[in-house]
Amino acid sequence: MPRLLIPIETALGETRVSATPETVKKLISIGFSVYFKKGAGERAGFSDDSYLAAGADLFSEENGELVNQIDVVLCVNCPCQEFLSKLKKGVLIVGLLAPYGNTNLATSIESGGISALSLELLPRISRAQSSDVLSSQANIAGYKAVLLGASALDRYFPMLMTAAGTVQPAKVVVLGAGVAGLQAIATAKRLGAVVFVSDIRPAVKEQIESLGARFIEPPAIAEDPSESGGYATQVSDEFLIAQRQELKKQLIDADVAICTAQVPGKKSPRLIDEEMLDQMRSGSVVVDLAVSQGGNCFGTKPGETILRKGVKLIGASDLPCTVPNHASTLFARNLLALLEPLMNEAELTLNTEDELIDGALISKNGVIRHAHLINSGGSN
Ligand code: NAI
Repeated sequence: MPRLLIPIETALGETRVSATPETVKKLISIGFSVYFKKGAGERAGFSDDSYLAAGADLFSEENGELVNQIDVVLCVNCPCQEFLSKLKKGVLIVGLLAPYGNTNLATSIESGGISALSLELLPRISRAQSSDVLSSQANIAGYKAVLLGASALDRYFPMLMTAAGTVQPAKVVVLGAGVAGLQAIATAKRLGAVVFVSDIRPAVKEQIESLGARFIEPPAIAEDPSESGGYATQVSDEFLIAQRQELKKQLIDADVAICTAQVPGKKSPRLIDEEMLDQMRSGSVVVDLAVSQGGNCFGTKPGETILRKGVKLIGASDLPCTVPNHASTLFARNLLALLEPLMNEAELTLNTEDELIDGALISKNGVIRHAHLINSGGSN
C-alpha cells in the first residue's frame, strides 16, 4: 500500500491544504495509507480530529514515523529543499511546484531521485478538467478580486433608484478573460456593474458576451497566432502599445479595473501604464491578480494596497488563500481526480504514454523530463 503524506504548507501566507477529510476517505478506499502532519488542515478549517475520523493517521516522527518511508507527498506548494532531501528515492511529489526556471527544484529532484508531477503543466484537455487546480483556484481569485474591488470602491456597484435619486452602476473593466477573468465578469455582473472586457484570444468574445459584458476588440495588428493549446501566447510590444491606446479610452471613466491577463511561464503583459493611471478617476480601484508575474498595472506590489493619486492599487497575489476552506476542498478534489486513475489494486503507476502524465511529470526517479521548463524559464 503506498504511504501518502499530507504535509503542513510552509510558504508565507499559505492557508490551504492538499487533502481534506472528504478526499482522505476516498484516497484510503483506492488503496493509500494516508498520514497527515499535525495541524495540516487547521488554517483551512479542517481539524486533526476530522482527518483521524476519516481514517488518516497522525504523522509524528516521535512515534517513529519517518519521512523516508513515504511514497507520495501531496502538497499545495513545492516543499522546501530540506524536506525534499529527507524523502526516499522514487518518492512522488504532486503539487504546484513552480517549475519554470526552478533550478533549486531540479537539483533536489536529481539528487533525491524524486518523481514530480507539476500541476501547472497538466495539458488542458477535456479529460484533465477535473484535475485542473489552476482553474479551480483562478475561479476563486476572480470572484474574490471583484469583492475586494467593490469594498475598496467609493461607489455602489448596482444601479439604484432611491428616494434621493438614481445612482448609476459602476463601470468595471476586466483585463484578460481566462478562468479568473470570466468569474470576475460573472461576479461583477451579479453585483450589478456594467462590465467591459479585453482579451487577445478571439475565442473568448462569445463567452464574454454570453455573460452580458462588452468585448473590447484587440488592436487590428497582424500578429502570430494569439493562442496555443487554449493559452495566450506573448504579443509584441507594438501590439501592446496599440492595445493600451484602446484601453485608455475605457479606463478614463472606469470605477474598477480587474487585471487577470497572463501568459503561462512569461512575464505578464503591462496593460495599464503610468499615464493611464494618471487619467483614472480619484476613488477608482485597480485589482491586479497578475502582480506576482510582474503585474498588468504599473506600481502594484504583491500583497500591498497602494494609494496613488487617489487611485487604489491592490496587488492581489494570494486570493485563493483568503478563501481557504473552499479553495482546499476544490484543490483536494482535483488531486483525487488526478490520482484515482493511476491506482490499480493499491499500486500506483505513472504511465508516461498517457498524455496527461507525460505533460505534467517533470521528473521520474530523479531524471528530469522537461529540462527546458526548469532550466530556461518556460517556452511557448
Ligand atoms: P491565463 O491565466 O494564462 O491567462 C488569463 C487570460 O489573459 C487569458 O484569457 C489570456 O488570453 C489573457 N491575456 C494574455 N495576454 C493578454 C493581453 N495582452 N491582453 C488581454 N488579455 C490577455 O489563462 P487561464 O485562465 O488559465 O485559461 C486560459 C484558457 O484555457 C481558458 O479560457 C480556456 O479556454 C482554457 N482552459 C481549458 C481547460 C481544459 O480544457 N482542461 C481548463 C481551463 C482553461
